Amino acid sequence: MWIFFNIVILTVYCFTFSHGVVQFSLNFARSTNKVVVIDHYYMLEYSIYRDGERLQSVVLGTGLGGYIKSRKTGSGFVLYGRGDEIEFSIEVDDSKFSQLSISRRNIQKSVSDCIDLASESDVHWYGGNQQRWQYYPIQKLVHKHNAYVTKEEFNQAIAERYWFNSQGIFFYVNLDAPLFIDQNNQHPDFMCLEAKRALPYDIYHTRFDFTYHIGIGLNARDVHMKAVEYFLGKPSGHPALEMVRDPIWSTWARYKTNVDEATVRVFANEILSYGFNGQFELDDDYETCYGALEFRQSKFPNIKNLTDDLHAVGFRVTLWVHPFINKDCKNWFEEAKQSNYFVADHSGNIETQWWNSEKSQAAYIDFTKTAAADWYYNRLRSLQISAGIDSFKFDAGESSWVPIDPVLNGTAKEHPSKITSAYVRTVSKFGSLVEVRSGQNTQDLPIFVRMIDKDTEWSLNNGLPTLITTLLQMNMVGYPFVLPDMIGGNGYNDNRPDEEIFVRWLQANVFMPSLQFSYVPWDYLSGSVDVVALSKRFVDLHAEFTPHIMNCFEKAVSIGAPVNPPIWWIAPNDKIAQSISDEFLLGEDILAAPVIEKGATSRDIYLPAGEWLDGNTGETYRSTDGIWLRDYAAPLTVLPYFIRK
Ligand SMILES: *[C@@H]1O[C@H](CO)[C@@H](O)[C@H](O)[C@H]1NC(C)=O
Ligand SMILES: *[C@@H]1O[C@H](CO)[C@@H](O)[C@H](O)[C@H]1NC(C)=O
Repeated sequence: MWIFFNIVILTVYCFTFSHGVVQFSLNFARSTNKVVVIDHYYMLEYSIYRDGERLQSVVLGTGLGGYIKSRKTGSGFVLYGRGDEIEFSIEVDDSKFSQLSISRRNIQKSVSDCIDLASESDVHWYGGNQQRWQYYPIQKLVHKHNAYVTKEEFNQAIAERYWFNSQGIFFYVNLDAPLFIDQNNQHPDFMCLEAKRALPYDIYHTRFDFTYHIGIGLNARDVHMKAVEYFLGKPSGHPALEMVRDPIWSTWARYKTNVDEATVRVFANEILSYGFNGQFELDDDYETCYGALEFRQSKFPNIKNLTDDLHAVGFRVTLWVHPFINKDCKNWFEEAKQSNYFVADHSGNIETQWWNSEKSQAAYIDFTKTAAADWYYNRLRSLQISAGIDSFKFDAGESSWVPIDPVLNGTAKEHPSKITSAYVRTVSKFGSLVEVRSGQNTQDLPIFVRMIDKDTEWSLNNGLPTLITTLLQMNMVGYPFVLPDMIGGNGYNDNRPDEEIFVRWLQANVFMPSLQFSYVPWDYLSGSVDVVALSKRFVDLHAEFTPHIMNCFEKAVSIGAPVNPPIWWIAPNDKIAQSISDEFLLGEDILAAPVIEKGATSRDIYLPAGEWLDGNTGETYRSTDGIWLRDYAAPLTVLPYFIRK
């Protein structure tokens, strides 16, 4: 349908001026930027211009109907027809940056504005949500009327309403709009921002608002920094140095739920005996019942003695926790239920399900209620003290875990996403060793956000390549403290990592903020290389660069800069750099180009303009507009990385 439309649009464009199609123009006084709305009679469209060049076009869902009129306002104009109105308003008018908002108020049913992802050739798009198939840049992603909330589906644990492109334009949608995304689905090459009164959003108020903002800057970097300033915000502090420098050793992928005191002691001794140290993380399953926040005596008869012993040999000890209480965890479930501490839906139902419960056999603590959040916090705090736990890995948090159509403490417009922000804000109080895995407008928190569980796979279906693309995605929506998931992946369905994927995964992880093992180097004692020695070398390399990582953390706090940006960050106008998704930067001076392809012993590497020192060979590469190193040799022992002089 719209393929046809596109052709028509182009045709109409040629006639636009000669045939006097009605136009409305928003001109920025301090720059050459402008936005022109064209009424094609059968559809409305606006285009964004910089220096006379059209950068972007968007098809406007009208609801205006028929003949459109306009009226001027102090900061722009309002288009109106038979009822609905669309307001275009200048918000920032500087010589190098313009921002406008496009607003509809009191919408009854739905409206959809469709961004042409291919307005101009070679445009790349960034930002958006965390996804299982994490393509990057993101213009190839497919979304089918995807409810834009944090949810388990598609690994969508982060869904910031922010997109920007290599031309230097961003779109930011206000949180109060019930937003769905339809991309490359109904209309190929378009991303439609659909606002619609439908679940999982509030359906009880008959009308809603839909406002979004468009920034027009000089390039992608410039416009992203403006988005940080005006919308995304920057962190108020950063995670602890120890959690960056020393690896995390999780029981999860290696033992799954088969953990007890004996396995912990064996694992800890192995870690030390192979010459490693760091943070010992006890994952599922240790509770008397899910939600008790008490250790099961049969598995952990004396937890304090265990954590004391782990501390005595130099480990920090962290514990996996979750925001659910299962029904069979009777005492706690009843207490929380009587106190109204669970999220209930509009019919009063509190039942939900998660991966450790049967259907309807669990409930989710309502962190939007002060008393419930305090109750959870205090119980966890006493467990922390009595068990000698340093910090926690907070699981879940996505809005899809609560009953659909929840009644939260907050305005209707904040439903259902407020449960995510309330949870992560509550648990962030446990300090600088905290990790969470979900977020909603919580870029200000000084804590690690973990990537959702990765699979032991070489593909973009949540496998090794997505370690990089997810890193880039999270950084470019304002979450710079990314905790990569476990080295080698989770080994689900008995698909344990082999030597090659384990080593390549570790290498890919070295210049990311933290290393997290669960499968271990000594799982590969009969491998083709000395995996223990090799792993030690890469763990040491990561430790060597830790001061640099901490500097990047400081910069994230001071100016909101990404810690691990895509390589175009230092060459925003470089067309090749704009499309690269298998390399990344640490700050602005370290470029990592790990091998992430099965069987590969070399790869092509692109270096943006500048003088680069090869971290492996000591060779120097200079170029004024970027160079390819073709077939760069990288056998299993080599992680290609470069340092900008
Ligand atoms: C833990 O218990 C064992 C056995 O009773 C004891 O030898 C050890 O000293 C205890 N550890 C600490 C730190 O108290
Ligand atoms: C609802 O949230 C507000 C703001 O966080 C808080 O002050 C208030 O105590 C909460 N109400 C309840 C019932 O918990």
